[in-house]
Amino acid sequence: MKASETKATLSFSNGGQNVELPIYKGTMGPDVIDIRKLYAQTGMFTYDPGFMSTASCESAITYIDGDKGELLYRGYPIEQLATNCDFLETCHLLLYGELPNGDQKKNFTKLVTNHTMVNEQMQFFLRGFRRDAHPMAIMTGLVGAMSAFYHDSTDINNPKHREIAAIRLIAKMPTLVAMAYKYTVGQPYMYPKNELSYAGNFLHMMFATPCEEYKVSPVLERALDRIFILHADHEQNASTSTVRLCGSSGTNPFAAIAAGVACLWGPAHGGANEAALNMLYDIQKAGGVEKIGEFIKQVKDKNSNVKLMGFGHRVYKNYDPRAKLMQETCREVLGELGLENDPLFKLAMALEKIALEDEYFVSRKLYPNVDFYSGIVQRAIGIPVPLFTAIFALARTVGWIAQLNEMIGDPDYKIGRPRQLFEGSAKRDVKPISQR
Ligand code: SDX
Repeated sequence: MKASETKATLSFSNGGQNVELPIYKGTMGPDVIDIRKLYAQTGMFTYDPGFMSTASCESAITYIDGDKGELLYRGYPIEQLATNCDFLETCHLLLYGELPNGDQKKNFTKLVTNHTMVNEQMQFFLRGFRRDAHPMAIMTGLVGAMSAFYHDSTDINNPKHREIAAIRLIAKMPTLVAMAYKYTVGQPYMYPKNELSYAGNFLHMMFATPCEEYKVSPVLERALDRIFILHADHEQNASTSTVRLCGSSGTNPFAAIAAGVACLWGPAHGGANEAALNMLYDIQKAGGVEKIGEFIKQVKDKNSNVKLMGFGHRVYKNYDPRAKLMQETCREVLGELGLENDPLFKLAMALEKIALEDEYFVSRKLYPNVDFYSGIVQRAIGIPVPLFTAIFALARTVGWIAQLNEMIGDPDYKIGRPRQLFEGSAKRDVKPISQR
């Protein structure tokens, strides 16, 4: 970051001493006011629950322009990456800052492929769960459990150790997600097959059985690979901020990523894809397109607590570029599968059209986000609804790891420790129980 000529001057109406605060500029996006010395100089904290106006770090990985609806991974527009690259090239870009050349891509793919198996002991963790356990409950457990296998070989201050932990996590997430799925359907786990692509291998581990050869569909393979690219990273969202805060204590990367999985599960965040599909199912069951008006009315009634899931975003005040690409992928996949008249896709597009013409949504700049269409295409691929967020976690692991390594790689990083505005009871003495 570079210092800006202009400074911010804080003045106090009670005649307190003015405070000068430096302003820094990044490559793009809003400048920042450096308040690190504010408490020392004024004895006061800033107050920003939900971090509506707070930059928690500096980063060179992902840039979002919420007004334009623009998303760049290391400067490359998501539209170009989703069309011209595959997920492992995108992983290389997020981790190392550059797209790989031919040799680098071959080596990186080989490295990831050779780490896709998990320790045989991992399967015994699954047995503790009920068969109908939510896959994200299983994933939160399994990813945290990886610490037990690598904790002693991951000195996070050693860049080589950090890199191998990154490769292990990217490589093993598909295996773990497929195991979580197979466990819930009572089928045997399928081992990774090294001759398959990253997405192809995941489809194999999900849908193959020992009883017959499984042929990976190139259409589904490409669609899944694009879904992974679209979910790979997204600046300082809730789960990425969780991973950074958790990792800032010096814990091992597996524990920090497990914290990210747990946070992503929430319906306001990654859990919205599952919630959005269930919302479409509910509207369909209630009568479909002609029931949309009634549903929108419920959404606008604050007491209903009903939200239009897959809509709205803290940063995007325009169309989420990933939602556009996801809608395109929906069209392609449904078309290839002869499902172009899929009622749920039609319902989603009708719902989007009505919402985008409704003053409630327009005035609040609520547009479809990445989660609005992703469920429809995942369902068309054959992925069960409860697994949608686990797929999101699978894809976002590279972003979490890249952001964690960026933080730990900065020699000046500190443990994150926010303060508070205390509104509790002033100091008082404990009375004997007879007087309470
Ligand atoms: C992801 O941060 C990221 O980058 C996340 C993510 C990533 O890649 O990591 O992009 C992934 O999490 C996408 C978002 C998925 N969540 C949903 O689709 C759930 C539904 N959306 C909302 O819960 C909401 O839009 C949030 C949580 C996404 C954003 O909430 P904000 O920024 O805190 O905004 P808000 O709740 O203060 O909403 C502002 C207004 C409110 O109304 P008023 O108080 O002004 O009257 O808009 C309303 C909200 O009630 N509103 C909605 C709405 N989203 C916001 N009303 C109906 N339906 C919605 N979906």
